[in-house]
Amino acid sequence: MKGVILAGGLGTRLLPLTKITNKHLLPIYNQPMIYYPIQTLVRAGIDEIVLVTGGHYAGDFLNLLGNGKDFGLRFINYAYQEGEGGIADALRLARIYTGLDRIVVILGDNLLEKDIGQYVRKFEQQESGAKILLKEVPDPHRFGVAEVDEQGRVVNIVEKPKRPKTNLAVTGVYMYDAHVYDLINTLRPSERGELEITDVNNAYIRKGQLTSDVIDGWWTDAGTFTSLYRAARLVAEKVEPKLKDHWY
Ligand code: DAU
Repeated sequence: MKGVILAGGLGTRLLPLTKITNKHLLPIYNQPMIYYPIQTLVRAGIDEIVLVTGGHYAGDFLNLLGNGKDFGLRFINYAYQEGEGGIADALRLARIYTGLDRIVVILGDNLLEKDIGQYVRKFEQQESGAKILLKEVPDPHRFGVAEVDEQGRVVNIVEKPKRPKTNLAVTGVYMYDAHVYDLINTLRPSERGELEITDVNNAYIRKGQLTSDVIDGWWTDAGTFTSLYRAARLVAEKVEPKLKDHWY
């Protein structure tokens, strides 16, 4: 199993913070944002990663991460996304490195409190297809939202719905078999001009090959001012639990 971290995009929602650096290099409490998804993959037992990035500051990732040795990685491979064609567009660039292997994909601005190793192991047992991780949230309209049947199976995913049918957000952790790349090649850009990861996941639903799990512990993205602040606070309280009593 190989890991793929998607850290492209222009981070326009965080301007002016992203005017002179890549969003994923911004600090979240005591580490750069990109450290967190790397650590999540390493904790889950993955030691070979493809990092997809883009924009003017892509070279800074090499300065920061080098060959990945400091994180316990065997390999880190880099790919460059031109423009901002969407999450699925960034993912297609990993193909040359991951070949026929299964992959765990994580968005570069996603932070998770707990180890995802148990879900990765479950996906390894799955015959084929894909697995997504869900989390109950108070603000589902900001995310891909999963609609489920009586058995809790995901039957449809809607990207940023105005009226969400559930409070189950699709987190930015996705597990795929190697067919994902052929599937991406069949996609058309959405109204916002992007190849949507939600379209990839809905295609797996139609094939009857998508499983899901609801995760424990906190999960957050960090792509807006509010969520960037929230992420820093969650990490701070995890690293130094006593802080909770000392905010002023
Ligand atoms: O955080 C989880 C959510 O992420 C999911 O619930 C949504 O279904 C999914 O579409 C995505 O929503 P966002 O609108 O928050 O995605 P955003 O455009 O902020 O991109 C998230 C990360 O994906 C970003 O930090 C880097 C990577 N990305 C994004 C784009 C648009 C790329 O690598 N290339 C891209 O072109």
